Amino acid sequence: MISRQIIDDILARTDIHGLISSYVSLKRAGSKYSGLCPFHSEKTPSFTVYPDDNSFFCFGCGIGGNAITFAKKIENLDFEDAVEMLARRVGITVSHEDDLKYEAKRHDKKRIYQMNADAARFFNKQLFSDTPKSRVALEYFTKKRELSLATIKHFGLGYAPDDFGVLLKHMRSLGYTEDELISAYLCARSKNGNVYDVFRNRVMFPIIDVSGNVIAFGGRVLDDSKPKYLNSADTPVFNKKRNLFALNYARHTCSETMILCEGYMDVIALHAADFSNAVATLGTAITPEQARLMKRYTKQVVISYDTDEAGRAAADKATKLLEEAGIEVKLLKLPQESGAKDPDEYIRKFGRDKFRAVIEDSRTKFNYYFERSLSRHDIGVTAEKIKVINEMCELISTYYSVAEREVYAVLVADKLGVDKANLLSDIEKKVSKRNKERKYKDSESEKNRMLGIGDKVNVDYAKAPSIAKIEETVLGLLLLFPSHRKRSLQSSVPMLTSDDFFTEFGKKVFDFISNAEDDAQFNILDNFFTPEEVGRITKIKRDRMILSDNGDKVFDDAVHSLREQVKKQSLSNKKIDIGQLDDLINSMRKSN
Ligand code: UTP
Ligand code: MN
Repeated sequence: MISRQIIDDILARTDIHGLISSYVSLKRAGSKYSGLCPFHSEKTPSFTVYPDDNSFFCFGCGIGGNAITFAKKIENLDFEDAVEMLARRVGITVSHEDDLKYEAKRHDKKRIYQMNADAARFFNKQLFSDTPKSRVALEYFTKKRELSLATIKHFGLGYAPDDFGVLLKHMRSLGYTEDELISAYLCARSKNGNVYDVFRNRVMFPIIDVSGNVIAFGGRVLDDSKPKYLNSADTPVFNKKRNLFALNYARHTCSETMILCEGYMDVIALHAADFSNAVATLGTAITPEQARLMKRYTKQVVISYDTDEAGRAAADKATKLLEEAGIEVKLLKLPQESGAKDPDEYIRKFGRDKFRAVIEDSRTKFNYYFERSLSRHDIGVTAEKIKVINEMCELISTYYSVAEREVYAVLVADKLGVDKANLLSDIEKKVSKRNKERKYKDSESEKNRMLGIGDKVNVDYAKAPSIAKIEETVLGLLLLFPSHRKRSLQSSVPMLTSDDFFTEFGKKVFDFISNAEDDAQFNILDNFFTPEEVGRITKIKRDRMILSDNGDKVFDDAVHSLREQVKKQSLSNKKIDIGQLDDLINSMRKSN
C-alpha cells in the first residue's frame, strides 16, 4: 500500500484541470469547466471539472471522482498504477518496496513484455533461417506481399515454425516458465496437460503499444487454411479493444488525419508507401474505446475498409462510433473498376501516387452515402427514385445545423430534379420527429433516474426512492463536514450506525465513512469502491456542496427523518403505489 501521506501530497500537487485538459478540451463556465465526456459518447457537454475540490463528474454517464479516478479510467490502470502515473507527473517518487502484491504484479507484467520481445526476436530470426519452410514464409512476405526487407524490419515481422514446441524450448532456455508462457498467450496447455506453442506455421505480426512494448501477436497462415489470422487473447498487458495496430508509428504523423484500415497487411502496405498515419483494429470491429483513443491523437479519420459488403457494413459502424467520439469522418472509395478489394491490393497494383489521389478524393459522409444510394437505385424508375429521396431525407435529418441540412437538400434536389422546398419540409418533419423522440427519451430517463429505476450503483434505490434520497443527504453532509462526522460518530453513544440506512449502498458508504481513520481516507475512495460508486459518492457530495444551509439542524433533521422512514418502511415493507409516483417525483423535484 502506498502511504496515504504520499497520495495526499500527489493529489495536492495535481491540478485536476491541467490533468484533464490534456485529454479533454474544457471550457470555463463560472467556477467550473465543462467538456465532452471522454468516457461515453455525447454531443453536448455533461462532463464537469470542479477545481474547488479537485473533482470531476459526468452527468451523462455518472463517472466521477478525483485525479486518481480520472487517471484510472482514462489510462485503464489499476489504483497503484494510477497513483504512480500522477506521481510521475508532479515529480514525486513512490516506493513500493513493502508492497509485495504490487511488486508481484509489476514483475508479472514486466516478464510478459520481456517474453513478448524475446518471442518477437525469435520469430524474426526464424524468418531468415535457412529451412525450406521459413524460406516459404520469407517469400510470402517479399514475393506474394511485395514487402521490402526494410519494411519487414520496421514492423519486426517474423515466422512461427511449423512445430508444437520450438518456441517453448527456446523460451525455456531463456528462463521462462511454462506458466509464464501461457499467461502471455504464447503457449497453451492441452487437455492432457501438454504445453504447446500457440502460433505454428504462421507469419507473425507483433503488436506494439505507444510506449514501444510488444503487447501481443497476430499470425497469418501462408495458404488458404482457416483461421486466416490468429490473434493473442487478452493478457495482463493486452486488451484488444483498447489498442490499435501501428499506433506506435502513426502517432507521430496523424495529428491532422489518420487512416483506419481493416487489416494488418493494409497498414503495412500503407506505411511502406509513406502513409505512416495508418492504423488498424486488432481482429475485431472498432470499439468505442478505440474511437476515443483515436480522438486523442487526431482530428480526422479516413475510413479505408475493404470494398466488399462486410467492409461496407463495418464502415457504417465505424462512421457512427468515430462521429460519436467527435472525430470528423471521411470515407475512402477505391475505384470500382480498379478491381482492388482493399488498400493493400490497390497500392500494389497502382502505386502510391494513385492511392494518394484516392485518399484526397475520399468522400464526406454525405457524399459517400448519397453516391451509395444512387448506385443502388435506378432513379429513372419512380419507385426507386422515391427510395433515394427517403434515404437522403433520413440522412440529412441527422445533421444538427439547419444551414448544413439546407446545403445537402439543394444537392439532392438538383440531382433528382425535385423541388427544394418540398424536400426541406420533409426533412424538417423528420428532424422534429427525431427531436420529439429524444425529448421523450430524456424525460423518461430523467424520471427513471429520480426513481432509481435501472440504478446499477444503488440497486435498492427504486425500492424506496424517498428514503434513498434522505440517505444521500445524510451521507453528503457526513462526507463534506468533519463537524457532522464528529457529532454523529464520535459521541460516546453513536448517533448513527449502518442499521439506520436502508440501501446496501448507503450502508457501505456509511461504513467507509465511519471507519475512515482521517480525512486522507476520502482521497482513496478508488481503493475501496468501483469507479461507478466513486462517481456516485462524488455526486452525493457535490449535490450537498451547492446548497447554502448545511448546518447542524439540517443534519439532525435528516438523520431523524431517515430513522423514521426506515422504521416505517420495515414495519409496512410495502411496495410503492404506482399512482403515487408522480406526487413523489414532484416533491423530489421541489426538494432538489
Ligand atoms: P482481412 O481478411 O481483410 O485481412 O481481415 P487482410 O489483412 O486484408 O488479409 P490478407 O492478409 O490481405 O489476406 C481484416 C483483419 O481482420 C482480422 C485481422 O486483424 C485482419 O487483418 N482477422 C481476419 C482475424 O482476426 N481473423 C481472421 O481469421 C481473419
Ligand atoms: Mn488484404
